[in-house]
Amino acid sequence: MNATMSTYQRFPIELIGGHDFHLIDQNGKSYVDLTAGIGVCNFGYSNCAIQQAAAQQISQLWHISNLYQNPLAEEVAELLCPADYQAFFCNSGTEANEAALKLAFKVASDKSTKQPKEIVAFNYGFHGRTIGSLSVTGYPHIQEGFDPLLPHVKMVDYNQEQALTAINENTAAVILEVIQGEGGVNVGHQQWLQAVQAQCQATQTLLIVDEVQTGMGRTGYQFAYQQFGLEPDIITVAKGLANGLPVGAMLAKKNVAKHFKIGNHGTTFGGNLVAMAAAKEVLQQLTPTFLTSVQAKGAFLMKLLEQEIAPLAQVKAVSGAGLMIGIHLTEEVPVNQVITSLQKAGYLTLSARGNTLRLLPPLVIDESHLKQAVEAIKLAIATQP
Ligand SMILES: Cc1ncc(COP(=O)(O)O)c(C=O)c1O
Repeated sequence: MNATMSTYQRFPIELIGGHDFHLIDQNGKSYVDLTAGIGVCNFGYSNCAIQQAAAQQISQLWHISNLYQNPLAEEVAELLCPADYQAFFCNSGTEANEAALKLAFKVASDKSTKQPKEIVAFNYGFHGRTIGSLSVTGYPHIQEGFDPLLPHVKMVDYNQEQALTAINENTAAVILEVIQGEGGVNVGHQQWLQAVQAQCQATQTLLIVDEVQTGMGRTGYQFAYQQFGLEPDIITVAKGLANGLPVGAMLAKKNVAKHFKIGNHGTTFGGNLVAMAAAKEVLQQLTPTFLTSVQAKGAFLMKLLEQEIAPLAQVKAVSGAGLMIGIHLTEEVPVNQVITSLQKAGYLTLSARGNTLRLLPPLVIDESHLKQAVEAIKLAIATQP
């Protein structure tokens, strides 16, 4: 196959079916999925109510454009937004971050106090690959070859005091993940995150929390920032929002959102009816009881990992929250080798920066499969040559 561009390194596996948290390949081999399509299919592959909601909407009407009323998008926004926020719908996490940066620049322009309009972002933060979102993505090798990027972006170390002095009167926004996902499942320190927020407030800087990977129940909370006692000005979400249909959203406090006026931003597919129908059903299933069950599974998994995996000589540390887990391997054990061994054993897993084995299973996985997965991971790590 060479009609598509060579931008992805793909495994020689074609996934053709699935149910619950299992996936099946072209040879009929079944896998326990610990990836959820990179944190997307949180309710797995056979959630009847989500399937029916999308199917019903397809049979009724697929797309209407943003020239007409969209009560379904209004309903989704009501379910999705914390009190006193408004939503802008788009199609991906990258687009949600792009919208967030634009809104931050617009606020700074309207107030005309910040010159130049600086953005503070973090090394190993990942926010996307369009020019704006790439400019705040803290990986020189991902940025390489794509200059000119946005000027006035200050890239600083995550979880370090230095961030606090980087945020000043000229900072239009700080963008961060409360747990860096692609960056290696680096969990933000609560005190540091709160100090960043306090410095933002002291300098009239907007705090953008990117919940693209951490949001929609992944850590046992609708938004991961909730467990850190934060109150961001802008929140971005995507991935799990419609369980696999393309959608993203930028949520902003109403006093910030009001700076976007008619014509300031838009996208053809934003609020697409099929994506909205699926998102509405996802949000209705993301109940406090469901979130509590994710917290319980997360605690169960972390305890097992601490007992079984952390003590291995090949493991430096285990990190994460809820069902977002990083197993940090020593250099002698290349993570891709472990991933391939696990595929052979019937488990799909992910990597992250720093030789990290990353687990983002569908949130509907059960404890017995998590236990079996930990045993398989232990064997795969311990038997690497
Ligand atoms: C934290 C975070 N932000 C943004 C993105 C980009 O989202 P998308 O791939 O939907 O554009 C990702 C993707 O992995 C992500 O993990």
